[in-house]
Amino acid sequence: MRLSVIGCGYLGAVHAACMAALGHEVVGIDVDAEKVAALSRGEAPFYEPGLPEVLTEAMASGRLRFSTDIADAAGSQVHFVCVGTPQKPGEYAADLTYVDASVDALVPHLSAGDLVVGKSTVPVGTAARLAATVSTAVPGAMLAWNPEFLREGFAVKDTLTPDRFVYGVPSGTDGETATGLMDAVYAEALATGTPRIVTDYATAELVKVAANSFLATKISFINAMAEVCEETGADVTQLADALGHDERIGRRFLNAGLGFGGGCLPKDIRAFMARAGELGADQAVGFLREVDAINSRRRTRMIDLAREVNEGTIRGKRIAVLGTTFKPNSDDVRDSPALDVAAGLARQGAHVVVTDPQGIANARRRHPELTYVETVAEAVTGADSVLLLTEWAEYRDLEPDDLAGLVATKTILDGRNALEPVRWRSAGWAYRALGRP
Ligand code: UGA
Repeated sequence: MRLSVIGCGYLGAVHAACMAALGHEVVGIDVDAEKVAALSRGEAPFYEPGLPEVLTEAMASGRLRFSTDIADAAGSQVHFVCVGTPQKPGEYAADLTYVDASVDALVPHLSAGDLVVGKSTVPVGTAARLAATVSTAVPGAMLAWNPEFLREGFAVKDTLTPDRFVYGVPSGTDGETATGLMDAVYAEALATGTPRIVTDYATAELVKVAANSFLATKISFINAMAEVCEETGADVTQLADALGHDERIGRRFLNAGLGFGGGCLPKDIRAFMARAGELGADQAVGFLREVDAINSRRRTRMIDLAREVNEGTIRGKRIAVLGTTFKPNSDDVRDSPALDVAAGLARQGAHVVVTDPQGIANARRRHPELTYVETVAEAVTGADSVLLLTEWAEYRDLEPDDLAGLVATKTILDGRNALEPVRWRSAGWAYRALGRP
């Protein structure tokens, strides 16, 4: 099939490359000429394991190209809208400027029978509004909403073999036609039995924000338990293991620590609160305010812990920070708990030396005041305390004895409950963590 993908950020670049890998003929469109140039050379503009390979292969097949000209969308039958919906500055609501602008720009190039498929995360009600824009401008063109559930770090796998497909479609024959077109696009994954839920626009939009709200709530639940553990001497990691054996609860997303960040969970729960408020349903999602507050408190607690182990003040102390990204296997530092803590320590007068396997360039752009180094050895040399804030595999596997000769004081704070306390303590380190004795 001939497809266009509007917006080649995280979601769009991966979607375009994967759709071409499935055999479709794809044009990816973005307003950012630099991004389009990089993608056209087969280079991923961000770190995502597996993406460079898929991209290179798709470019070589001749089925994938990128352009800055929206007119190149003409001739495609299905048009995926994959642009960002960031949080509005100073507000909880989502900024729909890019979604609205891309649909407005696309409309003049649509033909009757074309399907516009929204994948961006939007406030409930957006799809119905955009469907009217599309069908008024081009009678016979349709719109569907098909939320995306990919995780950074697993984006290629999640796109090629998702857990489920959700189609929000209009009622009547247009809905059947839209469903048929999306089934054809996703035929390969559907043939392996991937569940597919066909529903109305509002339900499809809500599935996405409900899923992210549930995940955020699960993380904040275990972090709230960590707060209680800290007051009682209990161990939140053992608590999570024990809870996780109950199949109804499950162990995944019960890792206590610095909490959630990134470009999705934090802004999605805030946009949901804002939208629910507009709809008069704010009471229903009032708990998300608490979920957000618990999440922020973990960052403050980490800074407090650093102060505690440094005899009450971090002013002038050298603190090594391992990790700046919001999670491992990503170079994304948007709303990163690790970077937030590093910046908070620096504001309180600490000399913060940061390292990360992939995140340094992005972190430096946001926080140029911090000192960045390439290796763990450089980061920890002379450190009064070492903070593990993003659980990259190479940090989990660190040998206490390898660092012992480099640091000034053998104190490690484990912000992700990623290390084995016994190993570090038996090597003579003071080990502290969130929610663990
Ligand atoms: C999240 C969702 O997991 C995806 O399903 C969704 O498609 C995506 O947002 C999106 O809306 O686009 P992602 O932001 O890549 O994906 O990250 P997650 O793997 O969900 O992690 C989010 C944050 O929670 C990270 O900061 C991570 O460190 C933290 N986390 C995760 C915990 O603190 N504890 C856990 O047990 C799990």
